[in-house]
Amino acid sequence: MPGVVLIGAQWGDEGKGKITDLLSRDYDYVARFQGGNNAGHTVIVGDRTLKLHLIPSGVMYDNVTPIIGNGCVLDLKVLIDEIDRVESEGISCERLIISSNAHIIMPYHLDLDEASERRLGKNLIGTTKRGIGPAYQDKISRMGLRMQDLFDRSIFKEKVAAALIEKNDVLAKVYDLPTYTVDQIAEEYLPYAERLKPYIQDTSPLLNDALDEGDWVLFEGAQGTLLDIDHGTYPFVTSSNPIAGGAAVGTGVGPTRVDRVLGVAKAYITRVGSGPFPTELSCKDGDTFIDVGHEFGTTTGRRRRAGWYDAVITKYAAQVNGLTDLCITKLDVLSAFPTIKICVAYEHLGKTYTSVPGHQSAFHHAKPVYEEMPGWNVDITGCRTFEDLPVEAQNYIKRLEELAGVPVTMIAVGPDREQTIHNGFLQRS
Ligand code: GDP
Ligand code: IMO
Ligand code: MG
Repeated sequence: MPGVVLIGAQWGDEGKGKITDLLSRDYDYVARFQGGNNAGHTVIVGDRTLKLHLIPSGVMYDNVTPIIGNGCVLDLKVLIDEIDRVESEGISCERLIISSNAHIIMPYHLDLDEASERRLGKNLIGTTKRGIGPAYQDKISRMGLRMQDLFDRSIFKEKVAAALIEKNDVLAKVYDLPTYTVDQIAEEYLPYAERLKPYIQDTSPLLNDALDEGDWVLFEGAQGTLLDIDHGTYPFVTSSNPIAGGAAVGTGVGPTRVDRVLGVAKAYITRVGSGPFPTELSCKDGDTFIDVGHEFGTTTGRRRRAGWYDAVITKYAAQVNGLTDLCITKLDVLSAFPTIKICVAYEHLGKTYTSVPGHQSAFHHAKPVYEEMPGWNVDITGCRTFEDLPVEAQNYIKRLEELAGVPVTMIAVGPDREQTIHNGFLQRS
């Protein structure tokens, strides 16, 4: 005890990396449980900035064993490059452990992600084009390759050959793209096996034993609740389960091992890629979020879409994740506004919704109903306790807490690890 799951409560990029890094001081293990290098998690400590895509954000601490769980999909070249980059910063990846059951992103997954987006035209998902969807598709179709396959040359080649029967057909006949041979793929991938061998283990028994021993385990989510394949804004979602339940599936521990679920949400909201977004702003206020909040994707550099905080979405996230705690990040960005809006409901065809509408059409056309609160217009990046915050900021947090029905036990007031207010979230004594 305890197992703590940290997830994104919006559409991703909530600041999960910063909060995971900060909390990691108290943990023995930090485990990623889904997603791949579609994720971009930024960790800032003093003048050092670390952008992580696959390696868990706890890697900076000597006390942490970072784990990449079975629920993740791995681009091996990106993984090796990231290990090298992190080590070149003087941070050791020696303790990193990668699940032997995690799936591998193959070269044809990248081609198919790109080609399928092109084919969708104006209806594209706006994926990160990292091959994530096609890799999960193959996992579910039982056609995927797993990390353990790298260590048996003949099995690896056999499985690649089986996959290529279908993949080459689709590449050539549907998309008019070049095909692959088994040898070509084996030549590129099998040398990765040598390099990655020291990191590979069955991580499920490892984490279960650790929890039995009383070690502290932090499960680090990628993406966010509204990008969940089952509970997000389908089809404008990612292909995994970023919600808290995904932590059990994606690491092989039972749901009873999870003691706390911390949802991370920005004090406003952003999304990258296509899909509905009720509070999206296309006016000057939208630009202010982008300029002041530096809202450009960590992975693709794309400009994020931005809008006022949507309390209907956070309430939904509280339900589907079973949130026990909420962390509000980027509160400092709201210092730029004289008044602040919160979306408390939607309207569609004369009906008012205080929960996420069950039918996608109502959500796509939902008009936000706003509540307005006074802003504070002063720099809050130096605040370190709740009482340090201007009373208007305190009232804003209290209102978010009330609307979500979940206590706000952490508040971030700047990108640096230190720029955080501990407001009651579980700490190791
Ligand atoms: P993640 O994907 O959830 O880890 O979030 P990203 O790292 O993609 O995006 C969050 C961005 O906001 C990063 O650039 C962080 O450095 C930055 N950030 C995190 N918390 C705060 C905060 O409280 N204030 C400000 N101004 N920036 C923050
Ligand atoms: P982190 O972990 C924000 C979005 C993409 C696209 C959709 C599907 O940094 O919060 P995919 O490549 O996953 O098939 O794309 O999901 N997306 C993210 N948006 N943050 C992320 O990760 C994202 N990972 C994927 O923009 O809309
Ligand atoms: Mg991100």
